[in-house]
Amino acid sequence: KIQPVILCGGSGTRLWPLSRKAFPKQFVPLIEGKSLLALTLERVAMLADARLGAILVGAEDHRFMLREALQEARMAGTILLEPVARNTAAAMTLAALEASSPEQLLLFCPSDHHIPDTAAFAQMVQGAAATARSGAMVTFGVNPTFPATGYGYIQRGAARPAGGHAVERFIEKPNAERAQELLLGGQVLWNAGIFLCSAGTLIAAMQEHAPDILEKCREAIATSKRDADFLRPGAEALEACRSESIDYAVMERHGDLAVFPFNALWSDVGSWNAVADMVEPDEAGNRIEGEGVAIKANNNYIYAPQRCVVAVGVDDLLIVDTPDALLVTRRGQAELVKMVVPELERRG
Ligand code: GDD
Ligand code: MG
Repeated sequence: KIQPVILCGGSGTRLWPLSRKAFPKQFVPLIEGKSLLALTLERVAMLADARLGAILVGAEDHRFMLREALQEARMAGTILLEPVARNTAAAMTLAALEASSPEQLLLFCPSDHHIPDTAAFAQMVQGAAATARSGAMVTFGVNPTFPATGYGYIQRGAARPAGGHAVERFIEKPNAERAQELLLGGQVLWNAGIFLCSAGTLIAAMQEHAPDILEKCREAIATSKRDADFLRPGAEALEACRSESIDYAVMERHGDLAVFPFNALWSDVGSWNAVADMVEPDEAGNRIEGEGVAIKANNNYIYAPQRCVVAVGVDDLLIVDTPDALLVTRRGQAELVKMVVPELERRG
């Protein structure tokens, strides 16, 4: 059986104004009133060892939302609270050090992805378990659709005996030109951001490629404090830890890397465009969540959970209404929303 590790520490500023520092996107009720974290827990529940449950790794400030999500999913587990965020290499290492044994298979999952086909997801993970048990680090690849610069790219190699493929190269977040080249070269997949390996494999990989991060994580666990609900790694050690993503720290360098294709719907819900795409359009192409109304208007997305928001005679807009902030942008420009938070902070 597998122990899921859910990474909940991201801030998701590209989904402003819904996603805030105090309330990042993984906690926001985004799909039929459920948060992406709740949906993630539902997705992994059937794969998990019920006794061990899941390990949630997130921020101290979000502890009550993390505890509530675990309770609502009726799952056992551990909530690991980071005093400071040190990116995914540290978050994953802390969880691996906390796992019950080095042989324990861990399924590392982002908390903010949309993967509606739970059965296909379970099949994908189960299909890769033997390879992970043999000591490989397993990644999952989705078919790329455009030269995105926000993803990792996996160049597929030869088929492996127990299924999946070897990885020729792992390239994290290439620039636009390189992304285009990689797509034209073929045999390339987007890294889905989900990893399966044993706790021992991850720790050994950290020892090989990022021993400084491993050392700080060991110190943090050795100086951690535990109460009934939470495990708090030592702040001093974690503050001194290098902040690096697992993709740069390990995946780009690791030898025994495998990739399994995932062919079902996958979205990293990285922008309002992606959120809009999750909603069924009406005949005029409008996608409406809540109290939105579109009149003589086409292909708009309206998020209006609280009050009536009407779009008249406009096309291709993304409108997101919240009690204290309103966002209006255009389809295709949604990437620019990441500029909002820094700009508002600058203006005070
Ligand atoms: N606990 C914790 N602490 N979680 C974190 C931290 C941290 O410091 N930093 C990020 N996370 C969580 C995020 O909440 C998210 O669920 C997951 O880890 C991945 O982090 P992102 O910051 O969203 O990574 P990314 O989207 O830029 O890139 C990764 O995902 C892509 C697919 O969506 C990479 O793995 C890419 O290669 C991949 O293509
Ligand atoms: Mg992401």
